[in-house]
Formats: sequence, structure tokens, C-alpha cells
Amino acid sequence: MEASVAPKRPVIFSGIQPTGIFTLGNYLGAIKNWAPLQEENDCIYSIVDEHAITVRQDPAKLRESALRALAVLIACGIDPKKSILFIQSHVPAHAQLSWVLSCYCQFGELGRMTQFKDKSQKNADNINAGLFTYPALMAADILLYQTNLVPVGEDQKQHLELSRDIAQRFNHLHGDTFAIPEPYIPKVGARIMSLQEPQKKMSKSDANVNAFITVLDDEDTILRKFKRAVTDSEAEVAYREGKDGVNNLMTIYSVVTGKGFEEIEREFAGKGYGDFKLAVGQAVADHMKPVREEFQRLYADKAYLKEVYREGAEHAAHLARRTLDKVYRKVGFVPAK
Ligand code: TRP
Repeated sequence: MEASVAPKRPVIFSGIQPTGIFTLGNYLGAIKNWAPLQEENDCIYSIVDEHAITVRQDPAKLRESALRALAVLIACGIDPKKSILFIQSHVPAHAQLSWVLSCYCQFGELGRMTQFKDKSQKNADNINAGLFTYPALMAADILLYQTNLVPVGEDQKQHLELSRDIAQRFNHLHGDTFAIPEPYIPKVGARIMSLQEPQKKMSKSDANVNAFITVLDDEDTILRKFKRAVTDSEAEVAYREGKDGVNNLMTIYSVVTGKGFEEIEREFAGKGYGDFKLAVGQAVADHMKPVREEFQRLYADKAYLKEVYREGAEHAAHLARRTLDKVYRKVGFVPAK
């Protein structure tokens, strides 16, 4: 028998919506940072299809996007043997806990969420109740697994803050039930901007396809989009205020090559933007090639994907059930067994 008990590793949870295909921004800003976390933490990553239907989705496309997302995550280095990888709708405890938590969260709190305000403006014809209670479902995702750390971008910090408030409120009323999650800010975070309007975040829903790179774009497409990237009229590769386009390209180049900004400035001193954009495009194409090829291989292997999401859901459901049982007991539900 082992004499020593291994210290409990931090639990990390993050969710990603299966809508469309991930961009270079999603990859460099989030997903790329997830794989290294597996070594020292218990990581749980979910494809949150229940969140996705808060805006109208085409059913066939949603199904396809969820499987693609799964294949992309594995291709990006998330190892189903090391982490739990599952599809949210496969684990009923998410919807179940979400209901309970929505009773511990105020109308006023939900109404203050900036994402709700943005999305209800953009979807004025479908301001459904799910769009409003979305943060209660997100809190359920996180709190079910006694999560310690949540890697999130800027736009999700307010939701995470609300999850913490709900957890604290519940613990205060009913005694210790949930771990209180902290935001996890990666050491090397990168905010990738649009290639066409570099003041805006890179988005897969941009009407201009030249504004974003997807993780599945081939080399020619990547080179072409970088060639068309917006810069400025100075012809100087330097990281400076006001040079949004160049700053963005330098950030991308830096993340994929590991070179610092000064090194990049030296490399392109006296050269034009044409050379620079070609180099960035080539570096991105080289960096993404193995991910794309691995994705294609995995996406063709539906039996393997099924095995992964089944095992992931089984494992997740087991952990989630423990927290849900505790919550049901604390709120006063009669035990079913
Ligand atoms: N709301 C997140 C987004 O749109 C996705 C998400 C759902 C999530 N549940 C989560 C992120 C739990 C972190 C933790 O990006």
C-alpha cells in the first residue's frame, strides 16, 4: 500500500461553445493554453451545446459543430486519457443544477450581465429565458466539479464572478457545498484581433472572411488572408501605440515562433510589410499544419470520437452526481433512493 497520499491536484474546468469553427484567436488565446495544464491539474473540458441553443441554431450544423469541436480539442493536444472531455448535454446534472442555482440568483444580477445586454440587442427577435439565465447554467458547469480554476477570456469574467457569488451565497445558507472558483489567467495570453479591422477582436462570425483565420484553413488560404491584412502607411515593423494592425501581426508571429517583439523588430528592420506579412502567414501555416492534419484524421474516425465522448460523459456524470446529490439534500429534496 502507498504510505503517502498524493496531494489533491487543482481542478480546472472550461467550456467552449460549438458554434462554427474555431479561429486562430480561439486557438492562440485559449485552447493552446489548455493542453499544458493537463500535466499538473485535473482538467475537465466541455463542449457546451446547451449554452449554444440560447441563440437559434441549425440542428444539423450544431451536431456537426459539436463533433468538430471535440476533434479540434483533441488535435490541439487535449488528451482524453489525461483530461475529461465531454459534451454538456450528455451529463444531465448540468441542467439539473442549473435549475437549483437559478433559484439562488437574482433577476437584477442576471439583468446586469453585459453579454445578455449585447446578445439581446443582436437577437432582438429571440430574447428567450435561456439567454437570460445562461449564467446559472455556466455556474452549474463550474460548480458541479468542485472547480478551483477556470481559464476564461475577458468577456466571461463577469459570468465567473457571478458563479462565485452564487457559490458563496449557497455555502453561506447551507454550509460548505461548493469550492469557490478563481479565474485562471494564462501566463502567455494573447488577444488576437481581426486582420481587417484590428481594433476589433478576431471573430468567426465576421461577415468578412478575410478578417479571421480558422484552425482548419489550409496554407494557401492562410497566406492569402495575411497578405491582405490591414497594416498602416508607415512601413515599419515596430510594436507601438496606434499601429494596431502591425501590433496584431507581431503578437501572432511572437506566439507561434516564440520570438520577442525586439527580436521581431530586428528581423524585419529595413524590410517592407510584404515580407513581414508573408513571414507571419508562413509561420502560422507551419504552426497550424499538424493541428489541421490531426483534426482531419480524427474527424474521419467517428467511432473513436464516440468512444471519447461516451467515456468523458460517464466520468463527468459520476463526479457531477456527487455534487448534485449533496445540493439536493441541502435544499430539502426527498432522496430518490
Ligand atoms: N460562456 C462561455 C463562452 O461563451 C462558455 C462556457 C460555458 C464556459 N460554461 C463555461 C466557460 C464554464 C468557462 C467555464 O465562452
